[in-house]
Amino acid sequence: MHRVVIGDSREMVELGDESVHLVVTSPPYPMIRIWDGFFRSVGCRGFDDMHEYLAGVWRECYRVLVRGGIACINIGDAARTVDGEFRVYPNHARVIEICERIGFRTLPYILWKKPTTKPRYKGKAAFLGSGFLPPNAYVTLDCEFILIFRKGGLRRFRPRDDKRYESRFTKRERDSWFTQIWTDGAARQSVDGLARRAAVFPESIPRKLIRMFSVVGDTVLDPFLGTGTTMKVAMELGRNSIGYEIDRGLLKAIQRKLSAVHGDFSVEVIIRG
Ligand SMILES: C[S@@+](CC[C@H](N)C(=O)[O-])C[C@H]1O[C@@H](n2cnc3c(N)ncnc32)[C@H](O)[C@@H]1O
Repeated sequence: MHRVVIGDSREMVELGDESVHLVVTSPPYPMIRIWDGFFRSVGCRGFDDMHEYLAGVWRECYRVLVRGGIACINIGDAARTVDGEFRVYPNHARVIEICERIGFRTLPYILWKKPTTKPRYKGKAAFLGSGFLPPNAYVTLDCEFILIFRKGGLRRFRPRDDKRYESRFTKRERDSWFTQIWTDGAARQSVDGLARRAAVFPESIPRKLIRMFSVVGDTVLDPFLGTGTTMKVAMELGRNSIGYEIDRGLLKAIQRKLSAVHGDFSVEVIIRG
């Protein structure tokens, strides 16, 4: 079962309670310039408003996840000057606080290091002028977070559950995946204009997360589907998938991406009125 809903994931009426095993997603990042217009269009004026908007989706994710289900949220912090003052807006910390309040338990998270050639600030080299002089230069934000949450305790399986054994990873995979720093960023270098505008994540990210935190036949949800990367990978890995995307203009790109998956898949598309 694969389903795309063009609609707002703050209300996932198409999904019953406890019907999803894993959430893999990357929301618009609060206070990052490319998402300013989007947040303005949904009535958000500042950092708190933007996180309150995202919280509506995290609450729905909690409702639809099974007990023991996992949510993986890819998010980066923002650094910018507002009212003449430069500071970091710690998106990862705010999402953890909100998800804990909703009832999720925080598990050890991952940092993935993006490729950066030079540290940049406001589109310019970050160290102009004082590059070698302390103390007024800033550390570059060149990592993003993959926050990992669980609903309730461990997920339970029957002894020697076939699907679970079919989904096992190798020792090598386990040793390189279950570590705190990933360096998958290289894939970002070859993205086209749409991928940059939609802030597409490299396929290797959902691929590992889906293998790490779900079994064959599970249902994987992406409530911020973008161009459909999570669904594409879920299809390739023998999972059911469902994605929500509020921007109807992305439907063609989603369909293009999903049609590139080989196999006998049908994808249901629901366009909310
Ligand atoms: C960072 S992009 C996701 C990119 C995606 N991971 C990919 O690889 O293409 C976030 C997406 O969330 C969508 N979005 C924002 N709010 C939404 C909502 N309430 N419901 C559904 N989609 C939403 C935006 O339109 C945007 O396409």
